[in-house]
Amino acid sequence: MRLRTLAIALAAGAAAPHAFAQEDAPHPGKAVYDASCASCHNDPLNTPGAERAAPLSVLRNTSSTELRASLTGDGIMAPMAAALSGEQLDQLVTWLTAEQKAATVEWDRALLCEADNRTVNVSAANGMTYFGADLKSTRSLSAADAGLSASDLANLEIDYAIGIPRAQSLGVGVASLGDTAFVNSGGKLLALDADEGCARWIYDGGGSRTTPTIAEINGKTAIVYVTGRGDINVVDAATGQQIWKATGLPENGVGSVRGGVIVHNDKVIVPISASGVASGMNPTFECCEGHGAVVALSAADGSRLWEYHTMEDAEYNGLVSPTGVKQKGPSGAPIWAMPTIDEKRNAVIVTTGENTSMPATETSDAVISIDLDTGEQNWLFQAMELDVWNMSCRSTDADSGPNCPWQFDEANIGRDFDFGGAAILVRTKGGLFGIGARDILLAGQKSGHIWALDANNGEVIWSDRVGVGSPLGGNHWGIAADPETQIVYG
Ligand code: HEC
Repeated sequence: MRLRTLAIALAAGAAAPHAFAQEDAPHPGKAVYDASCASCHNDPLNTPGAERAAPLSVLRNTSSTELRASLTGDGIMAPMAAALSGEQLDQLVTWLTAEQKAATVEWDRALLCEADNRTVNVSAANGMTYFGADLKSTRSLSAADAGLSASDLANLEIDYAIGIPRAQSLGVGVASLGDTAFVNSGGKLLALDADEGCARWIYDGGGSRTTPTIAEINGKTAIVYVTGRGDINVVDAATGQQIWKATGLPENGVGSVRGGVIVHNDKVIVPISASGVASGMNPTFECCEGHGAVVALSAADGSRLWEYHTMEDAEYNGLVSPTGVKQKGPSGAPIWAMPTIDEKRNAVIVTTGENTSMPATETSDAVISIDLDTGEQNWLFQAMELDVWNMSCRSTDADSGPNCPWQFDEANIGRDFDFGGAAILVRTKGGLFGIGARDILLAGQKSGHIWALDANNGEVIWSDRVGVGSPLGGNHWGIAADPETQIVYG
């Protein structure tokens, strides 16, 4: 009884449309919204370049804590709110949250299981312990481990649904161990009894955008996940008690973690994504400076072992936007996905996204092998060069914002053709007696390509373009491979 019982539908809190009290004097926060936010958030689906933005109804159902986190510091919308005074920001958040009821504050406590059901059986058989299902990121579970067969798929029903109040989106996957599902949303990590839908324990770690990973740490079965921009939380899976917490950000403090972490033997491997792709939309932002990196921490206590960077730190690059704003670079090549471990070659494999400002680097849209002991690069395969793009770029030069890198260099063909998902390590079957079997890495790109690379050196063995691709399409979410049938699902 494992994933079968995991038919959990987690809904972000109901986003009912809000009627505005038109007869009252307009709230000052509405004026701030109209001037600074409405152009993208009123009708995002019909606003080219803003399709990823949440509509106003969702913003109005987001907690003030989440709104402030997005609008300040390193939040993705901080550049959009940079020109606001503290008072305007307060007015904006007050207006956005004005119609929310306070009753949901204790929502998590109400989910607690009965007192005799508040410990997780950590010796239960594994289910989905990583985002990629295993160190090789195959995303493939045996029917026995899944507790599901292909014929069950037609008969699944929703068992129960939990609405997480004021959460903007769930945006992360679930890890499972026996009949416990570890779910991370609304600022809490919940160990849910998958049959009953009640919480065996609740860990109050704060906001998070990463999927939990299950691993053995200091002799305990632990949940490892990231809160804030890059705080690694290691939590005892049996009890929900913290084992350690440490920053996983690189020493320059830039970036944030989006893909889950992976744990191998004595190391926690943290993929670092970059800020800049959304900030580029702000015409006054000196675009851009964040870049991808990998940080290895000691699994015992979170101390830092090594860092790998996809490029040098950004500097002013001599370019000035049409509206007179100095540009910085190089930047980008973020690592969005949980890394893959190649145990045989003692390597960690990461996939990267595009550059976000000039100059282009050879590490963007790439698959990179890094030595697990030293953090040195073993090899690099770049699928697409000169892909310099940020969210100021629209469908044509004419409607793009001043920070769109296309305008600075004719050769730049920026299309946002990242690798969004992890590379998968597979051993091919070979011929008679397995002769010719080899280890290959499969990676799906947003261009629609699937690449098969030699795990020894990153050389291309084959590639196929299975779709036309787009910034929000192609192989975006990731691919899966079945080690038995050797079929790749793109
Ligand atoms: C130029 C267009 C644009 C403007 C102006 C803009 N936004 Fe956004 N906003 C977006 C897009 C696009 C996203 C989605 C970014 C992503 O996740 O890739 C977004 C995301 C958000 C999010 C979710 C952030 C997160 O952390 O996931 C919030 C909250 C938000 N915007 C609030 C605001 C507010 C409040 C304002 C006004 C101060 C504002 N935005 C102005 C385009 C815009």
